Amino acid sequence: MSVTENSERVRVGLETEMPDGHQTAVAMGAISVLVVNDEGKFYALRNNCTHQDYPLLGGEVSMGRITCQKHGARFELETGKAKSLPAVKPVKLFKTEIEDGVVYVSPL
Ligand code: FES
Repeated sequence: MSVTENSERVRVGLETEMPDGHQTAVAMGAISVLVVNDEGKFYALRNNCTHQDYPLLGGEVSMGRITCQKHGARFELETGKAKSLPAVKPVKLFKTEIEDGVVYVSPL
């Protein structure tokens, strides 16, 4: 994924290629950021479970929450908050923007 003129902003891809339920991960420097389309809204979270650092990419999304596949912790996409054990700390959130049909993420 390329970095745009604003070096803080990373291009994720075309909105039309990321339908409802789509998940992908992009690199922001050394950080992996998970981007999820849940019911037409894009969310971006650090792609690391706060329990044992397992990637969140590929976890089941339901009721606005993503489930870590390792031990089942759930995180709220909107806030990053841990909603079930064994995770207790929130996942860092990133900002998503859509411009001319292209989805971008940047630090909040
Ligand atoms: S690593 Fe995610 S719940 Fe344990």
